[in-house]
Amino acid sequence: MTIQFNEETFRDDYSFRNSAWAIKRFPFPFHEDSYMYSVNMEQHRGGPEGSVYEKRFDLDEHYLSEMQDRALVLAEDPLRCQSLPHMTLAGWDTLELIMVSKSEDYPDLFQLHRDGDRWRWVNKPMGIDHSFTFLDETTLPCGPLEYITRQTQGDFAVLDQRDDMLWMDAGMVTTQADWSLDFDIGMNFFEWHAPVPLAHEMGIFKRALKFLLNVQQGAPARRLNWTMTVNPLLDTSPENYHKWGIQKTTLTPENIGAKQHLRVELQTFFRLPRSNALLFPIRCYLIAFQDIVTVPKWGRRLHRVVRDLPEELATYKGFIDNRPMMLDYLSEYDDGLPTSPGV
Ligand code: HEM
Repeated sequence: MTIQFNEETFRDDYSFRNSAWAIKRFPFPFHEDSYMYSVNMEQHRGGPEGSVYEKRFDLDEHYLSEMQDRALVLAEDPLRCQSLPHMTLAGWDTLELIMVSKSEDYPDLFQLHRDGDRWRWVNKPMGIDHSFTFLDETTLPCGPLEYITRQTQGDFAVLDQRDDMLWMDAGMVTTQADWSLDFDIGMNFFEWHAPVPLAHEMGIFKRALKFLLNVQQGAPARRLNWTMTVNPLLDTSPENYHKWGIQKTTLTPENIGAKQHLRVELQTFFRLPRSNALLFPIRCYLIAFQDIVTVPKWGRRLHRVVRDLPEELATYKGFIDNRPMMLDYLSEYDDGLPTSPGV
């Protein structure tokens, strides 16, 4: 289908909206009426037509506005994109994976012409037509990771793999759920996950790491994660907590349907060919409560999940104070009927 790109903002007047199409394909993350952390990994080899799982890197109506928001964040804070010196090759691997995937998956929007190491990249929505030499940084306006992730929705962590461990040694992180690349850069898998409650004791990170160390080239994996955000903010970083944290106190019973958003991350895992690094794209999808409840099963289920979520998780995800108001709103959409398993 042809995508109509929205003109919208994720700050100031918050004009972000989901079309009926975007609501229909929203990756609602709850398969049952309760939620607990698990090693919820599956293969990322396509999915139903039109779904966010269909392509390797999903593109939707928010593409151009998300790229504008990223440019604003980077102009204020260039440290949102970092790459330790040994990660440049992984940056080229990332550029290649994204350019090849997008030009194959969206040929009407992106084209890649390759003649040996002389490449020409055409990104029609962003009006880019650029010729460069693959693996020669001097032919790009910035490093390869920054270049391609300024043109691709979602955050990106690039993990070096050595000593049977993953290290966060590069990334582009402007749409994150309250964590910081600048703080985590150089940390390993257990260190950057240290703040997460309960999951360490459940053995989740040990099992997840084992899985990730074995992800093979051409066999990507994926999982969903979720949290809550007041106002459709992409940049909920610790660096800008002073700007967005306070907004959590502006919820009222009258505005909660429009202001409270469920934030879902489609996380994927790709092994990169030359560097053997692991690419971890984290794609953020936002949806207002008032749009969720247009799907009766989702409204019912979200009420039950939020109601029964362990206190540690509601605290970590930052909505413990607003939980009672959320439940008042959502309970109106829960008729007590059983829900069938699956989304
Ligand atoms: C949270 C990174 C893979 C489970 C986080 C956080 C980061 C992160 C930065 C936020 C921690 C904080 O509060 O500062 C990554 C990276 C991964 C990865 C770079 C890829 C290598 C996984 C996998 C699992 C997982 C495979 C599987 C179970 C979690 C959970 C949380 C978390 C449960 C808490 C999320 C929440 O409650 O909202 N991760 N992660 N992560 N991660 Fe990962």
